[in-house]
Amino acid sequence: MPTANFPLQTDFSLRRHNTLGIDAMARAYLPISSLAELKEIGADPQLSQWPRLILGGGSNLVLTQNFDGLVLHICNQGIEIVGEDADATYVRAAAGESWHSLVAWTLAQGLGGLENLSLIPGNVGAAPIQNIGAYGVEMQDRFHALTAFDFVSGELLTLGHEDCAFAYRDSIFKHRLRGRAVVIDVTFSLPKRWQANVRYGDIAQELKERGIAVPNALDVSNAVIAIRTRKLPDPAVIGNAGSFFKNPIVPIAQRDALLTQYPELVSYPQGDGGFKLAAGWLIDQCGWKGRSLGAVGMYQKQALVLVNLGGATGQDVVRLSQAVQADVMARFGVLLEPEPIFV
Ligand code: EPU
Repeated sequence: MPTANFPLQTDFSLRRHNTLGIDAMARAYLPISSLAELKEIGADPQLSQWPRLILGGGSNLVLTQNFDGLVLHICNQGIEIVGEDADATYVRAAAGESWHSLVAWTLAQGLGGLENLSLIPGNVGAAPIQNIGAYGVEMQDRFHALTAFDFVSGELLTLGHEDCAFAYRDSIFKHRLRGRAVVIDVTFSLPKRWQANVRYGDIAQELKERGIAVPNALDVSNAVIAIRTRKLPDPAVIGNAGSFFKNPIVPIAQRDALLTQYPELVSYPQGDGGFKLAAGWLIDQCGWKGRSLGAVGMYQKQALVLVNLGGATGQDVVRLSQAVQADVMARFGVLLEPEPIFV
């Protein structure tokens, strides 16, 4: 193997590097902490040709089989304020920082804007790929720009908001730039005229229970942390990848037809005539909440979260995912699309 220049670890278990806790093997694994290292790999005649998997926190990943290629684990660190203007403070974070560390860091500096996104598992570099979101805020609402290394051109790209084609849990990195661009750092724009976003029912309720009428950013963060801790399994304890399916968006006619049949249907207008349906509700109605198939199941407190009950393989995950999709399709005529990336 012509890899003498690189400290590769071969036949490497990825179990600790994906939050579902699937024990798949990688042919080779390399932690990356600088752009220079990526450039070296990109310039290497052999290594640059291997199949590549770019790994961050592994919180949005289903390893369906062993990976016969090179896993690049992005580990660079650093968070700093890089500028400000009348409207915003700009904070740049390295892709390898954990997302919640960034949120906590900004709050400690007195900067609001990311608090609704507290405690989301995963790393900063994955946040734009997935356009992570929670409690009425998406990462794209605070995104300014990012830099990424492009393996095809060997160049550093600077991408602004428009370039990234953000959509609900989606971006250009899941499409045209998939497997090709590696996010190096992300710059966020945190508003100077901060206002709490507590429209999401659960947050309003939590703050009310805490007796907080006028919350600051830290109060909102604490409320989000409390809600998430109650509802969602901690990946360090129970393997999972957060919401396993996206909330499907359907045309108004389909939503109205469903509503006639199921008056309890949970749906949210999208502004463009479509309606987002709560996938957790659909799965729950099909009887999957708390039900297992082999070594995996749908979590008993949130039917949208697929959990590893111990020793699950990627194939177990695929089987359950397909069984849930088939039941929801048969009952509601709606196709659920998985949120994580299958490798
Ligand atoms: N529901 C049920 N049964 C369930 C689960 C949910 O009936 O087992 C109903 C709830 O009662 C509620 C509705 O479905 O009326 C929505 O549930 P919830 O508020 O828990 O949010 P969600 O739509 O299931 C989304 C995001 C989460 C995010 C929360 C809060 C997606 C796919 N999921 O979940 O994001 O944290 O809203 O904003 O958009 C993630 O993407 O990994 C994730 C956790």
